[in-house]
Amino acid sequence: MSKGTIERVAVLGAGSMGHGITEVTAMAGYDVTMRDIEAELVEEGYDQIEWSLEKLEEKDRLDESAAAVLERIETTTDLGEAVADADLVIEAAPENLELKHDIFTDLEDLTDEDTLLASNTSSLPISDIADVLENSERVLGLHFFNPPVKMDLVEVIYGEQTTDEVAEAGYEWVESIDKTPIYVRKDIRGFVVNTVLGPFGGEAAWMVSEGEATIRQADAAMVHRRGYPMGPFELADMTGIDIGYHVRKEADDPIPPIIEEKVENETLGQKTGEGFYDYENGDGADYE
Ligand code: 3HC
Repeated sequence: MSKGTIERVAVLGAGSMGHGITEVTAMAGYDVTMRDIEAELVEEGYDQIEWSLEKLEEKDRLDESAAAVLERIETTTDLGEAVADADLVIEAAPENLELKHDIFTDLEDLTDEDTLLASNTSSLPISDIADVLENSERVLGLHFFNPPVKMDLVEVIYGEQTTDEVAEAGYEWVESIDKTPIYVRKDIRGFVVNTVLGPFGGEAAWMVSEGEATIRQADAAMVHRRGYPMGPFELADMTGIDIGYHVRKEADDPIPPIIEEKVENETLGQKTGEGFYDYENGDGADYE
């Protein structure tokens, strides 16, 4: 399957990954419908897309106007309407297996048999998500990185039943949106990137939890001494502290107390205005 056969895409979820995936899909010329369960969530996601496209337009990084890209984006809260004509559905809902099972069960009824069904899960094996479907051959993982508009890589993950034809169609589609796909043939929790990235954030969080370093020291060390674009705490604030928490929980990894505390207090990073750094009353990630 190529861009010729994927014309319309549906993205389920308007959170940071959902709206980012919607944006890059529309930027590549596809018609895309973004769906979330509440109108307010859809509006927030759409506003973020508008903000981002306007930034890119200001910096001359769009081939057309922001308005022209926005023309290709529709929004809805109705699942059936979102996926009715979609050739590819990308689920970007919260990391909860039961919720994903409900969504994929509905998708089996609401979509044509040849519609590709993808999950952007960070931590759940694709086979576990797909096992509610009678025919799970058309389910694959398309794992984007935050922020999708700036991050080039997308993992294309085989579930146990995913056919080569389906994985190849996903791979070609990723290329068609100007991203770099890599196949992940082993359907392990966290896939490749999060499996490697997890210990980086984990070690830093244990060090801080045990009083061996401060948040600012750890971030500054990785940025200024190691040349990373962001330190582990700033990165967790950007991706959402709850996301890393769920990845660890799913893997049965012990959770560093500092992460547990942030999740309990619902200070989850930029999206809640506060995480390891304060984005509302402070200067953001101020470890320079
Ligand atoms: N759209 C448009 N513009 C954006 C934007 C967006 N979504 N996000 C940020 N910008 C803008 C900023 O507003 C700022 O603009 P300004 O200069 O006018 O104020 C500019 O981009 C930021 O530019 P910077 O020079 O500060 O930063 P870079 O562009 O060089 O890099 C970055 C930003 C790409 C986010 C870089 O810091 C980076 O690579 N960080 C690491 C990100 C990463 O590792 N992500 C993966 C996380 S793991 C994951 O997602 C997996 C999941 O399963 C958990």
